[in-house]
Amino acid sequence: MSTKILVTGGAGYIGSHAVVELSQAGYQPIIVDNFNNSQESAVAGIESILGKKVPLYRIDCADAEALRSVFAAEPDIAGVIHFAAFKAVGESVQKPLAYYQNNLGSLLALLTVIGEFKVQSLVFSSSCTVYGIPDALPVTEATPTKKANSPYGATKQMAEDILTDVAAAGGPRTILLRYFNPIGAHESAKIGELPLGVPNNLVPFITQTAAGIREKLTVYGTDYDTPDGSCIRDYIHVVDLAKAHVVAVQRLLDAQPDAAQVETFNVGTGRGNTVLEVVHTFEEVSGQKLNVELGPRRPGDVPAIYADATKAATELGFETETTLADSLASAWKWQQALAKA
Ligand code: NAD
Ligand code: WQD
Repeated sequence: MSTKILVTGGAGYIGSHAVVELSQAGYQPIIVDNFNNSQESAVAGIESILGKKVPLYRIDCADAEALRSVFAAEPDIAGVIHFAAFKAVGESVQKPLAYYQNNLGSLLALLTVIGEFKVQSLVFSSSCTVYGIPDALPVTEATPTKKANSPYGATKQMAEDILTDVAAAGGPRTILLRYFNPIGAHESAKIGELPLGVPNNLVPFITQTAAGIREKLTVYGTDYDTPDGSCIRDYIHVVDLAKAHVVAVQRLLDAQPDAAQVETFNVGTGRGNTVLEVVHTFEEVSGQKLNVELGPRRPGDVPAIYADATKAATELGFETETTLADSLASAWKWQQALAKA
């Protein structure tokens, strides 16, 4: 049986870690990326960790003709993991059309070509953003989704619906992975998150503040109904998240004909941590004192969300292994490696 797995967005933050884990689990990942939010250095990092080359196609995933040429050049692709998308929530409000075009355009082109080449298995990067502000915590996969509060979130909801319809009509068997907040980097510090410009996300902002690139970290809101007043999230180490993809791929390749056509899994730790807990844990593991300002709420933020991770544990056999402290230590090691690069 073929072990070739096409990884769209494989040079990106999560995709690069998934490519490493796939290869180390015995799969042959093939990267498709147009580097609109990543750099070729990520592929060099992957290859340095693995000690071998990984096939790379520099194409736009929304270009069906270019995708066809990849599937033709790589016969017997057993499955696809589709990471390629724009992901900045705020930017999506400013540039909604770009988000609908890229995130849905790449999905539609991919599904078209997957259909032509009769690929049976697909893993899709969804997000906890589909839950909006949940009525109860933790959120299970059965928690109702809420109207998306950004075009980015809308693309994830629409993509889930499109994939469900296509799978039901004989398209690829699909696993939707709803990620919570990925953080940290590979232990080698050869791959990690490469935020362009000022980071929106908490952990890169923390590490850049500790490195002196940013003057101070603003904690967005300390008057929420949480133990210390700051927002709660479920921070999952990116290597744990990457491993969930390996397990999902294996489940799809092992699926019996009567298996479900679409399955949805939360991928989080099942733990919620406040922003201030993250800040203090970072200070402990790094030995760096952060310049912290307690600021107002950031518009659009969900006060608290974390995963019920039971379904992934019982049905996928997937559980996270890394503590918040170790995840933050890896993020700091990566930031220091970036400074030396
Ligand atoms: P990323 O930007 O680091 O990686 C995405 C990769 O896809 C980049 O390398 C980019 O160059 C590539 N890409 C984008 N559009 C493309 C196109 N049309 N053709 C080819 N390549 C294209 O982002 P990430 O954090 O690794 O996220 C990966 C996926 O996970 C995305 O779908 C994102 O929406 C989803 N997700 C991310 C988070 C998060 O917090 N990072 C949380 C939930 C879901
Ligand atoms: C985390 C917490 C902020 C920066 C986003 C997307 C979501 C998903 C993951 C893709 C919040 C606080 C942040 C700062 C702060 N992505 N914060 N100071 O907003 O949970 O989720 O990424 O699907 O869809 O919305 O992540 O890292 O931006 O924020 O206090 O400088 O840190 O208010 O409570 P978020 P984040």
